[in-house]
Order: sequence, then structure tokens, then C-alpha cells
Amino acid sequence: MKVKVITSNPGKVAEYRKAFEGLGLEMEHLRLPYDEVQTSDLEEVVSKGMDEIVAKGVEDFIIDDSGLFIDALKGFPGVWSAYAQKTIGNQGILKLMEGVEDRGAEFRCCIGCCIGGRRIIVLGRSRGYIGTEARGAEGFGYDPIFYTDGGLSFAEIPLDEKNAISHRGDAVKKLEKELRSAGII
Ligand code: IMP
Repeated sequence: MKVKVITSNPGKVAEYRKAFEGLGLEMEHLRLPYDEVQTSDLEEVVSKGMDEIVAKGVEDFIIDDSGLFIDALKGFPGVWSAYAQKTIGNQGILKLMEGVEDRGAEFRCCIGCCIGGRRIIVLGRSRGYIGTEARGAEGFGYDPIFYTDGGLSFAEIPLDEKNAISHRGDAVKKLEKELRSAGII
């Protein structure tokens, strides 16, 4: 079965391809812009996005809305992660964190999956910390400044290792469970 991953981010598509390898779902990349409503809730962004895409007549797709939530910045950039990445970027985040002792942070990923007429929304999380420098060339976005407990940034580990511990990987595990119990995979 083919599932469209609707995003402008090829990095996300690569992660979904790897995560669903061997599960009988073939991930296809589709660039189809949809409105990302201004709200502080990732699930609401995803749910509204799904409504819009379904209204356009598209079936069997996945969208995801993700963000980096930094403890010491009271959850910033959070739902504004895309804007912050485009404007201040990783160096800007490192600057905001200069001299800050509490470096704890969490990535969150909300997946909306519409498949076989069913709608499933799941939320995944991954805890880590913001390093003092950007490191690594893998991944995308905030990966070079988000570090795991093992002391490596998400941009320093291979894709399958990132999937095993990441927010997107966590959300995919929940989605897989739902798809299995619905008899879709
Ligand atoms: P969105 O879900 O595409 O809106 O992502 C929001 C922002 O978070 C973008 O700047 C992404 O590059 C970034 N982002 C989303 N997922 C990840 C990830 O897995 N690693 C690093 N950055 C991410």
C-alpha cells in the first residue's frame, strides 16, 4: 500500500521510509501546501491540516508537525520552531542558551495519518539537551544542537539510530500499533 508523506521536508520523508521499511507501506513524497493554523497545540495544527487535505480529495497520507521545546526558554521555540529555524537558526538558539545551566529540551512530533478512510493522530516525544555547539552533518533542522544522553547530537548518529530514540520514531511506534490493531498492516 502506498502512503503519501505530505511535507516540504525531504528529511522527514527519509525517516518515514526507513521507519516503515518492511511493514508493507511504501512512502511517497508529496509536496502539497496546507495551512498551519496559529495555535500552541501541535495536535490542533495536524487535525486542521488533515481536514484541509481530505477536503482536497487526497487519501492515504501522513502529515507531521514537530517542534523543539526548551525547558529554560519556557517551551520556546515550540510551535514556532519552523519560524525560529528560518530566522535565528541553530546559532541563534545557542546564543539564547549562552550561560544557561538547565539545558533540558524535548522534541515533539505529532503525526496525522489518514488511511483506508480512518484518521489516526499520535504524539511522540524525545528528551535530550541543548549542547553548547552545533555538531554533525546528518539529519536536518535542530538536529546538530539537540544532544542525547550518550553525548552525541542527533546529527551525529545514523538515521536508524535517530529513529530508534527520536520523537518521530516514538510517534511512528504508536502509529504502527494503531495500524496493526485496525488490521491495516
Ligand atoms: P515542522 O514540523 O516541519 O513544522 O518543523 C518545525 C521545525 O522543527 C522545522 O524547522 C524543522 O526543521 C524542525 N524539526 C522538525 N523535526 C525535526 C527533527 O527531527 N530534527 C530536527 N529538527 C526538526
